Amino acid sequence: ADMRSNHIARRIMPVENFPQPGIRFRDITPALQDPRALRNSIDLFAERYENAGLTQIVAIEARGFIFSAALADRLGIGLTLIRKPGKLPRDVFSTSYMLEYGDDVLELHKDALKARDKVIIMDDMLATGGTMGAAVELVRKTPATIYETAFVCELLYLNGRKALDKIGVNSYAICAFDE
Ligand code: PRP
Ligand code: MG
Repeated sequence: ADMRSNHIARRIMPVENFPQPGIRFRDITPALQDPRALRNSIDLFAERYENAGLTQIVAIEARGFIFSAALADRLGIGLTLIRKPGKLPRDVFSTSYMLEYGDDVLELHKDALKARDKVIIMDDMLATGGTMGAAVELVRKTPATIYETAFVCELLYLNGRKALDKIGVNSYAICAFDE
């Protein structure tokens, strides 16, 4: 794999039994604190998407916001927010989903995306795919086109990629963990 993706992967730290017993959490905060890792992640995304004709990056609260904002600025395009419930002030589409731990709701402003929009949906991590599946469902309520979904890292053993394949959307992840 790319030296840059290995560099990022080494700065994503496993934390056992967080936020509850039996869960191995992946902490991206060291990767964010390392200027080279942060820059490398945006460089890799930008190389992949610079000629894709995207009009917006759709970003998932909360950790998806970080990389999405930097990438949108780099590509010179807009940022569309998918938020946790009760945060968006105007009319919203809502979808509920199961998380690896607990369940939640995501929302998107009904008028956020138009037929001319071609987007990627971004998050920091692909685990079970529940969060991104709900985000795809939300964007599909709008007339926009989904180019693909994008992640900093993917937890292969939770099979999120398969879940997203099943609903007909491709996934890209900079790095992957197999345990
Ligand atoms: C984490 C992570 C992804 C999601 C991945 O978010 O940032 O969004 O879980 O899991 P999945 O593929 O099984 O759905 P979380 O909801 O924990 O919180 P945060 O991003 O708001 O910190
Ligand atoms: Mg998240």
